[in-house]
Amino acid sequence: MSLKAKIEIEGKVLEYPITEGSEHEKAIDISKLRADTGCITIDHGFLNTGSCASAITFLDGELGILRYRGYPIEQLAEQSSFLEVAFLLNWGKLPSKSELDSFEKKVASFSKLPEYIERMIDIFPKTAHPMAVASAVTVSLSAHYPELNNPNPSTEQKDEIFALMLGLFKLVAARSFTAASSQAPIASNPSLSYCEDFISMMGMKSNKDVAKALDVLLILHADHEQNCSTSTVRVVGSSNASIFASISAGIDALWGPLHGGANQEVLEMLEEIKLAGGDYKKALERAKDKNDTFKLMGFGHRVYKNFDPRAKIIKKACDVILAQLGVKDQLLDIAKGLEQEALADDYFKSRNLYPNVDFYSGIIYRALGIPTNMFTVMFALGRMPGWLAQWKEMRETKETKISRPRQVYIGSVVREYVDIGKR
Ligand code: ACO
Repeated sequence: MSLKAKIEIEGKVLEYPITEGSEHEKAIDISKLRADTGCITIDHGFLNTGSCASAITFLDGELGILRYRGYPIEQLAEQSSFLEVAFLLNWGKLPSKSELDSFEKKVASFSKLPEYIERMIDIFPKTAHPMAVASAVTVSLSAHYPELNNPNPSTEQKDEIFALMLGLFKLVAARSFTAASSQAPIASNPSLSYCEDFISMMGMKSNKDVAKALDVLLILHADHEQNCSTSTVRVVGSSNASIFASISAGIDALWGPLHGGANQEVLEMLEEIKLAGGDYKKALERAKDKNDTFKLMGFGHRVYKNFDPRAKIIKKACDVILAQLGVKDQLLDIAKGLEQEALADDYFKSRNLYPNVDFYSGIIYRALGIPTNMFTVMFALGRMPGWLAQWKEMRETKETKISRPRQVYIGSVVREYVDIGKR
């Protein structure tokens, strides 16, 4: 029997269908509510609003579950690789050996940026934030691939876009780093794995442990259903803007400190605590003070209200990689102390605030030698397959309409224009 919700407004009772997802989450379809009653719904920050039906990622914030296409994140982080996960997100199935080989080769074949893009990266001021460079350069790729600006690309074009963006964004990220640090650019080496090539282009020393640690971080960031940046990609794409414009907008949304920008902020916060003598209790008191805008960065999440499964994996990986590299980092001790103290504190307990994916990732990036202002670009590198798969799904869904919320107007009611001389 199909479920229905009854809504009563001013004595009038209306019924609306309830749709159910494959994991039994229920949603009331209120798309006809305004036509029937004149009422819209309001939901600041979309706390309770589903924007689409999606078959890509499932998460249960109460139980701390995250799955890509049905596969638990814990299994993927341990057994898979970033490009295999990217394939899975985009095509909905795990690749065969030959499919993965040819996909890896295809991604690696994008081993050189268009020359004008290289020049563009090089002329940015050295002080430019790499996320600004990444966003500007991504939208500018539209000039090089005019045929891929089509909002309804063919299947072949969609496949091309997917491999191209994964291949080229790695080059953009690495070159924006070498340019900003006045180093000569290092060419891509298509015979290396995705992460080894990135590490090599960053001018960093690589070994199997470092490449594996980076690969796991990218897997953990690869998708996260309808978060702020992914929703942005879908909203921009719903206007038939190009894939390059949509992804560039996603990069901008990710940059914000409440979203992906938090990883940089966490590290800066830990460094500040260290400089102030390592007393993390003061930071906790500030985070709890409602008259202070300071927040405990890397803590809290809109959907995870128990624990963030990615944070659990990262915390473990952090211990492993620091031990493998022989790095002793006081920031890790501060982070652990801060976490322990916060988890025992009523303020954080009562609000279900737990460490999120950004809390420990920065410590690993730092141990790998990646500079702090590149952390959010690392997030973007990892999130790229998710954005692309979500964009593709949105373009292929017949129900997709231009995203256009309504509002409750609270401004002046109608008034007469007054001539400037009479005001
Ligand atoms: N430090 C202190 N207090 C916090 C924190 C925090 N990090 N996070 C939430 N709170 C408090 C809020 O002040 C609020 O308190 P109140 O009920 O007394 O008003 C309560 O907890 C609920 O928080 P909201 O801001 O309403 O939760 P929301 O779901 O809107 O925000 C967010 C989630 C943005 C992640 C928030 O927890 C935050 O700002 N965290 C710090 C930034 C961060 O780490 N962002 C990365 C998120 S993960 C990602 O995007 C990849």
